[in-house]
Amino acid sequence: MFWKSLFATKSLEMLQEEAAGENRLRRILGPIGLTSLGVGAIIGAGIFVMTGRVAAEDSGPGVMLSYAVAGLGCALAAFCYAEFAAMAPVAGSAYTYAFATLGELFAWIIGWDLILEYAMSGATVASGWSEYFNKLTSILFNWQFPDALSNDPFTSMTLGQSPWSINLLAVGILAIVTVILVIGIRESAFSNTLLVLTKLGVVIFIICVGAGYIISSNWTQIPPQERKTPEEWVLSDAIKDYVADTEKMKGDEADKRVKLLTPLTMGVYTERRVETIRKELSADNLLTPDVEKRLTRRVYRAKLELDHKDSDGEEAKKTIERTLAIYSKDLQGTAKELDASLAKLRMQLPAANSADRRCVEGVLADAKELAKKKAVEKWGLIAEVGLNEYLVPLDESTRSNFTPYGLSGIMLGAALVFFAFIGFDSISTHAEEAKRPQRDVPFGIIASLFICTILYMGVSAVITGMQPYPDIDTKAAIAAAFEQRALVEDSGVLKAAAALIAVGGLAGMTSVLLITFLSQARIFLAISRDGLLPQKIFASIHPKFRTPHISTIVTGAITAVVAALTPIQDLEKMVNIGTLFAFIVVCAAVLMLRVKRPDAHRPFRCPIVFILAPLGIFVNLLMALFLPIATWLRLILWLALGLVIYFSFGYGHSILRKKETAT
Ligand code: ALA
Repeated sequence: MFWKSLFATKSLEMLQEEAAGENRLRRILGPIGLTSLGVGAIIGAGIFVMTGRVAAEDSGPGVMLSYAVAGLGCALAAFCYAEFAAMAPVAGSAYTYAFATLGELFAWIIGWDLILEYAMSGATVASGWSEYFNKLTSILFNWQFPDALSNDPFTSMTLGQSPWSINLLAVGILAIVTVILVIGIRESAFSNTLLVLTKLGVVIFIICVGAGYIISSNWTQIPPQERKTPEEWVLSDAIKDYVADTEKMKGDEADKRVKLLTPLTMGVYTERRVETIRKELSADNLLTPDVEKRLTRRVYRAKLELDHKDSDGEEAKKTIERTLAIYSKDLQGTAKELDASLAKLRMQLPAANSADRRCVEGVLADAKELAKKKAVEKWGLIAEVGLNEYLVPLDESTRSNFTPYGLSGIMLGAALVFFAFIGFDSISTHAEEAKRPQRDVPFGIIASLFICTILYMGVSAVITGMQPYPDIDTKAAIAAAFEQRALVEDSGVLKAAAALIAVGGLAGMTSVLLITFLSQARIFLAISRDGLLPQKIFASIHPKFRTPHISTIVTGAITAVVAALTPIQDLEKMVNIGTLFAFIVVCAAVLMLRVKRPDAHRPFRCPIVFILAPLGIFVNLLMALFLPIATWLRLILWLALGLVIYFSFGYGHSILRKKETAT
């Protein structure tokens, strides 16, 4: 009895009855409204912030392939969502579909998991928003919010700064969005349309203007030797560990030491790395003037970092970029230039036997060890099953100019840029408000995903075509690419374009936040209608504003705390694993229902479902496998917490159970 009741399902008829019942949301959305809602929820931090980071560190120009893989996984899930949403057009999305197929317990697990997709993605987008806000003020006024108020503590520590910081900018935008939603922006479809049009306009602008600056050799002619190495990723951790463990420093003293050691270590590392690349490439006759030019710039950047080691902040960064731009303008790409640049760098490095040099060598030795682990970590969970020795060679054999980080780079990249696609399913949470859900919801889901995929391919081609991928700014990448171009070409128009892009990014992320929160409120509403969450909180509607005010405030407050204190990269992975899990369940649920209820009326049918749905499970699971073990463990913890809440509240208050006991 106990087990049976845990897996009690709601029949399709029950769902359809609910959809037609009293007290439902108003049906006001047509096909354009639904598609615009989808585009509004999709285009945001993923494309504006993460694409650049993934291109620089994980996939190189192959980020375009990462987008193709992630887009495929989403398209397959989208067909399944469309079939379900047309069959049962009630709020609740994957939660409701799981209730109809897998039963109450699974439905709760998925509902709880969807908090990662919606509320936590709100926190991630807010972090991206703060990066773009700083980019905008820095372009316009040469000023940005102090790091201590625009970074979470963990990011601050990675940057070698004091951990006493919170991302106040992210908290600020979340507070604004919460207030707007409580007052009831939903009534103002106008503001959403305006935000969506602004970001669409800006994305199209990026593609059209950026296309003129694409240098196709950036996609195909950068040898993989120039990629960022695992050592480079771990350098800042190795420095901190060295200062804390070997030099036994703490607090301010340690912060200062890290700040000094960072450019010194980077300088020594760059000198060596560039010499190695030079040797390897000239042995293969691949040392072209373009390569020499890039290496010369790289060395000169390391020298400039050393020149400015005592100055902080945005002004120093700008001076470095400006000086580098002027320096690079007349480079011919000759061995002589590279030698001259190396000589200048060497003059800044600590002398061979100095105490500082010994520390730098100590850090580099530690980094080498750490890097071995890091190289395998890119294979995510797959690396945990003892395949290590095969994985690194597999990357070596799949490396090319276009895919410098090998197969793991493409797949890890896909698992990360997947974030950019999240949101098309939020249309299904609004199915209850669609005028003709059977026709328009599938249309909206598929159309919005299609539009965004085309735009994403275009933007990722522009980002990786405008700049060599190792030079891409990992924060606010698109605006930064235009800004750097503006410096190189000394162009006011390009600077204005960079500012416009930053505005577009902010508009885009704001609309994602608005729709994500609206969708979260609908999912909470659906769960609380079933009695699994307190109705007083999650189904209560403000008497004057007619909005789910308490649910929105709770979501806003929790999200703000998370955004203030957690690094965007960790958040992003959590959101992705949660969403991938939901997609897998929806694909499986569609299949199950085809078997269990072949007769049910299906206004939209997923084509060749017995091929597409299993393929959807496979592709989405494969992406999830490339996420790190820490992310998997966090997901398990999150789900375990969900179970505790279910058994302490939901199980006892379930309306379905009460009905069944009564009959
Ligand atoms: N897809 C949404 C974004 O990229 C979550 O911001």
